[in-house]
Amino acid sequence: MTRQTSPRQPRRRQIGLWLIGARGSVATTAICGLAAIRAGVTDATGCVTDSLDLSSAVFPGWGDFVVGGQDIAPTSLEKEAGRLAAAGVLPQSILPLIADELRAADAAIRPGYDPVTDRGPQAHAAARQIADLERFKQANDLASVVVVNVAAAEPPAADWPEYRELDALTRILASPAARSLTPSSLAIYAALQAGCPVVDFTPSPGLSLPAITELAQQRGLPYAGRDGKTGQTLLRTALAPMFAARGLRVLSWSGTNLLGGEDGANLADLGQARGEPQAKARGLTALLGPDVTAPLHVDYVPDLGERKVVWDYVSFEGFLGTRMSLQFNWDGYDAALSAPLVLDLARLVAGAHRAGETGPLSELGFFFKDPLGSTEHRLAEQAAALSQWVRRLS
Ligand SMILES: NC(=O)c1ccc[n+]([C@@H]2O[C@H](COP(=O)([O-])OP(=O)(O)OC[C@H]3O[C@@H](n4cnc5c(N)ncnc54)[C@H](O)[C@@H]3O)[C@@H](O)[C@H]2O)c1
Repeated sequence: MTRQTSPRQPRRRQIGLWLIGARGSVATTAICGLAAIRAGVTDATGCVTDSLDLSSAVFPGWGDFVVGGQDIAPTSLEKEAGRLAAAGVLPQSILPLIADELRAADAAIRPGYDPVTDRGPQAHAAARQIADLERFKQANDLASVVVVNVAAAEPPAADWPEYRELDALTRILASPAARSLTPSSLAIYAALQAGCPVVDFTPSPGLSLPAITELAQQRGLPYAGRDGKTGQTLLRTALAPMFAARGLRVLSWSGTNLLGGEDGANLADLGQARGEPQAKARGLTALLGPDVTAPLHVDYVPDLGERKVVWDYVSFEGFLGTRMSLQFNWDGYDAALSAPLVLDLARLVAGAHRAGETGPLSELGFFFKDPLGSTEHRLAEQAAALSQWVRRLS
């Protein structure tokens, strides 16, 4: 009798998750969360992909990722995770259980491009970042690497030369003294040159430069952005369609944001804040029309730590001109709201890449304040488009 042997399954190659700003609050929470899910010490509450019917032939699972990244900060992930636990973002009890994974991810973090200390040509910095990505891919035998930008927010694109064409950008970068791309645009340029699909979770210019999106198209890569929709804008894009559907006329929608944490200090700074209100106002205008007054105020309140407190006052008019209002408060931990979305986006964009999708992934607009490739801001419609897209790819 001949013995039956089952054919050996080829080992499934893993996917890289490369975080730009890998030692920040959002990135560290995402890395800790992924490790905790894999260790079975938590479930994936807050992750959208767990309730979508993802085909495992297309989309990677939690166990399929290897994490690396770049940052300009020297603080170790373990130390940053300890700080976040003390601030109430992470449960202290998971830290000893994920210590090995944190150390492995920490060892795979490379220095980012810091324009203050790196005075050389940006072409050299881009080449170094491309080499880092290629080494990460080879060392771990990865099928592909998804790059997610979660670095500190930069001033809006208006303050930087706007590269309309890739040719111009390539010429400028090749000149020895060129130092004109923001660090996020440089990192995204390098990622695309290394053949990686990209997610921009920040309001930085990163993916918004036409020359950068041209590069993505030229390389046949998918990308998604910009600026994670995690708190105030999430609520607004859920509630504003209700007023429109009920024929109620919104007269004004005023918002106040009280932010703690590094990102809060950064966004409350006048120069940096302009990007955030612009993205939020664009959403409200798209949902309610241009006549709604929508003042927005951002303050840095250090004692709030990692919390973000939001207050919105909506003044509206009903039948026979009756004036009414809606007020709501939101008190959340930004990093805990963002991190699961970063993990979701890594799975979804890796799947899109594997399925041969290219260009802006408009169906991922659900995750963003300023969705690339889409003018749809209504949360319910965005959720439906996401489910449909997942079904098509699966
Ligand atoms: N927290 C949220 O809910 C939320 C929502 C939407 C968007 N975002 C965006 O996500 C990003 C991260 O937020 P966070 O709270 O983690 O901020 P953070 O300040 O805690 O972390 C940012 C990290 O980026 C690093 N960094 C700065 N310059 C860099 C460079 N040139 N190269 C590589 N790394 C660099 C910093 O050292 C730091 O570790 C911000 O741009 C923020 O606006 C956050």
